[in-house]
Amino acid sequence: MKILVTGGLGFIGSHTVVELQNQGFEVVIVDDLSNTSMTVLDGIKNITGKVPVFEKLDLRVKNNVQDFFSRNQDIAGVIHFAASKAVGESVENPLLYYENNINALVYLLQELQKKEAASFIFSSSCTVYGQAEKMPITENAPIQTAMSPYGNTKQIGEEIITDTAKVTNINAILLRYFNPIGSHPSAEIGELPLGVPQNLVPFITQTGMGLRKELSVYGDDYPTSDGTAVRDYIHVVDLAKAHVIALKRLLDKKNLEKVETFNLGTGTGSSVLEVIQAFEKVNGQKLPYKLVGRREGDITEAYANTDKANTVLGWKAQSTLEEAMASAWKWEQKVRS
Ligand code: WQD
Repeated sequence: MKILVTGGLGFIGSHTVVELQNQGFEVVIVDDLSNTSMTVLDGIKNITGKVPVFEKLDLRVKNNVQDFFSRNQDIAGVIHFAASKAVGESVENPLLYYENNINALVYLLQELQKKEAASFIFSSSCTVYGQAEKMPITENAPIQTAMSPYGNTKQIGEEIITDTAKVTNINAILLRYFNPIGSHPSAEIGELPLGVPQNLVPFITQTGMGLRKELSVYGDDYPTSDGTAVRDYIHVVDLAKAHVIALKRLLDKKNLEKVETFNLGTGTGSSVLEVIQAFEKVNGQKLPYKLVGRREGDITEAYANTDKANTVLGWKAQSTLEEAMASAWKWEQKVRS
């Protein structure tokens, strides 16, 4: 079975390619290399011994997408990761986000609707819930007005897929990620933020390496156990495995609806200070940090109700926060060695 993975050299994409290859799938990666590098392909090969087909492609160009599918008629399914994903950047440059995250999706679906049947896995985000009223967050929690153009592209993307699946042979699963962290245990692939990391864990590991002077903890006045914001940090390998299970569900026609939605988290919330403590425990050194004001647009708390993924997909996150932090730290040391 040939599977197209868009954005397959990215953080979550590369880990998913490894799991697809482990399950015997033939993988074709397209990536525009705007936020990654070709070295990731070597990392994948070092892990699985198999080199996925790779094509550098800008999916924002409709003709590129049409041409790709005319040359690859035997694609059985698509896992669509390719998107811009920096919340702050999306506020500064909304049209870059609408063009990249929406136009490319439309062009992909226009090709897939021509096929007998198509299985489509969409990389969505818990950001669609905004600050949910009730914890843990279920898939039925109301979708709130997006806090950023990035979040809006995920909401719009879900709607486009839902409307299209209704009237085509496309079956889809929307995967709403909580906070992906960590790296493959081999340290051959991991998170490669270009520039100053926006996300907590890469900033922590770079601080641990002395690349950053200290971590700024954004806000200690939230209504949480220790005043710092709470998120559901899920190991990227657990997340990758969920994608293969979801894809197989569609390929085997086990889905009960044309479009199904699953929250992918651990079901446990961790505060920023708890993440710091987990890191310190793992690498035995104190992390320099300072408490500063809240970051614009941040929510207080988000962690998943994972019952649906556990029972319907038969998937459950396996790694603990400490294990995830240990893998992130191992990767950081490898990358800087
Ligand atoms: C986590 C917590 C920060 C950096 C975003 C997107 C989400 C997904 C993951 C793409 C928050 C705090 C962070 C720092 C800090 N992205 N923090 N100091 O904002 O929950 O989610 O990234 O899919 O869609 O919204 O993740 O890692 O940026 O922040 O105190 O230097 O760590 O305030 O409470 P976030 P994050």
